[in-house]
Amino acid sequence: MEQPETEHRSLEAEKAATYRPTDYEHEFTPAEIARGSHRRRVGGMWRTMGELQLRFLRSRGLRPEHRLLDVACGALRGGVRFVDYLEPGHYFGLDINESLLEAGYQHELSAQQRERLPRANLRATDRFECDFGVAFDYAMAQSLFTHVSLNHIRLCLYRVGQAMAPDGRFFATYFGAAGTHPVDGVLPAKKGLWTERNPYFYYRSDLRWAARCTGWQVRFVGDWGHPRGQLMAEFRRPTGAQRLVREGMRPGALRGTARRVPGVEAAYRALRR
Ligand SMILES: C[S@@+](CC[C@H](N)C(=O)[O-])C[C@H]1O[C@@H](n2cnc3c(N)ncnc32)[C@H](O)[C@@H]1O
Repeated sequence: MEQPETEHRSLEAEKAATYRPTDYEHEFTPAEIARGSHRRRVGGMWRTMGELQLRFLRSRGLRPEHRLLDVACGALRGGVRFVDYLEPGHYFGLDINESLLEAGYQHELSAQQRERLPRANLRATDRFECDFGVAFDYAMAQSLFTHVSLNHIRLCLYRVGQAMAPDGRFFATYFGAAGTHPVDGVLPAKKGLWTERNPYFYYRSDLRWAARCTGWQVRFVGDWGHPRGQLMAEFRRPTGAQRLVREGMRPGALRGTARRVPGVEAAYRALRR
């Protein structure tokens, strides 16, 4: 049935008042960068959020010799901390916005820090192209999943997965909703959180689905001290046995070496649950 025009108008007005899509590819001008717009675009709280990211990854085992991929690194809010901590050349970042990367590199890093970070380690890409020719031990996406659709998350997990070392760990933040929260509901937050609008919230089952169809296992870390309540999820590659099962090897059909992989039966049962 067609909606009465007045009701339709008021819904549009309500949406216009509360929702302004962000143009993530907006090219920041030198004047905007001088006014600090690049810092505001990534959410402000420059020092707090940069230090929180480094502290968190160190608490999860990040060491200077590791290679880290910062997915949606923006203007290097985390990058300025990681570049000092990691061995030279071991920090890599990608973002959809070239001007943010450039602002970070030229305005936020000192000359000494730039010597530790080849500019080629920062890449603008709108499809998570993260083949830098190295295998990453850690990856982090701080406040990316909060701003992209589930299809983007799937693509991100798929591509990052291809660039990781076998035991690599990928940490990503998100806004979470209880499984009982209605799909068409809006979570209370400063601007509201929606399933279909930026900033997005996700159910655990959404992230489980995206992980499963891209070959990851997800573990929900939960609260990690984010000042705006973003939660943390950890993605890891399944163990050898679990990977064999996931790739379609059923216990009864295992041949040769694969058959002797310890734990394959248990992994099969766990994945079926
Ligand atoms: C809230 S900021 C966080 C930036 C950074 N992780 C930090 O903590 O400072 C979100 C970032 O996601 C980037 N972004 C948005 N959509 C993207 C996409 N499809 N691919 C890559 N980056 C994206 C934005 O340009 C922005 O830098």
